[in-house]
Amino acid sequence: MKAISWVSGKGGTGKTTIVGNIGYILSKSGFKTILVDADHGLSCLTRLFKINARVDLIDLLKSNYVDLKDIVYPTGIENLFIIPSKDRIKVSEVRGVSRLKGMFNSLDSFDYILIDAPAGLGETIVNLMAVTGYYVIVAQPTPWSIDAALKLKLIGDKIGAKPEGFILNDIEGKISMFKEAVPKFERLLGVRCIGLIPHDKKVKLSSIKLEIIAGNSTNRAVREFYKIASAIAGLKFEPPKRGLLPFFG
Ligand SMILES: Nc1ncnc2c1ncn2[C@@H]1O[C@H](COP(=O)(O)OP(=O)(O)O)[C@@H](O)[C@H]1O
Ligand SMILES: [Mg+2]
Repeated sequence: MKAISWVSGKGGTGKTTIVGNIGYILSKSGFKTILVDADHGLSCLTRLFKINARVDLIDLLKSNYVDLKDIVYPTGIENLFIIPSKDRIKVSEVRGVSRLKGMFNSLDSFDYILIDAPAGLGETIVNLMAVTGYYVIVAQPTPWSIDAALKLKLIGDKIGAKPEGFILNDIEGKISMFKEAVPKFERLLGVRCIGLIPHDKKVKLSSIKLEIIAGNSTNRAVREFYKIASAIAGLKFEPPKRGLLPFFG
């Protein structure tokens, strides 16, 4: 079992979209995977998978009457499960590191636990990174997003969490230009780059339609999602050939 927090510092960089797609690819590749919607202020991942959550992670952390099995929901996709987040107005920090650790240990039948973290650099993020021990930084190619990525790396180093890699998402213009800049970014951050995802209208639309684009397309962004999943698992996955895509609905 490996648990990974997907963090960005800055909001809206594509964490939820990427976690949903990487979870889909890992599960389709035969890995039993569970996604955790830790962004309980917005619950975007829960909405993406159209889950109506009765009890969630916060309930488990705050109450003695909630059992782990009550908050693990099937997504309708084989091998893919989710710990959702229910609608809340009041956002509280994800606290209770020892309880979180205990929860993760009980999820040891899963190959991967992917945590969709909220934006920010505060207590919740530090706790999630500390508990998972591994993290992926999702950044956009903007100075403020890279600045947040640097801060996350410093936090990670301080608490002994290991970076699995960073992703530059929503790249406008020529990807080749960014490819040249990657070694510089890697040196600056001290983290390997595991994905360069272009700005893609279909990706944007998939969030509106509540679809997992990796289940519906083999375009460049999706091929990059496959590369990222391959880097995470240390195995090479390819998108299915056109015409053989499973329908996701
Ligand atoms: N590569 C991309 N191309 C186009 N739109 C994207 C891309 N990645 C993410 N988006 C869009 O950006 C918005 C924010 O993405 P989201 O995954 O919710 O970010 P976060 O979870 O970091 O807040 C969504 O509307 C999503 O569809
Ligand atoms: Mg999100």
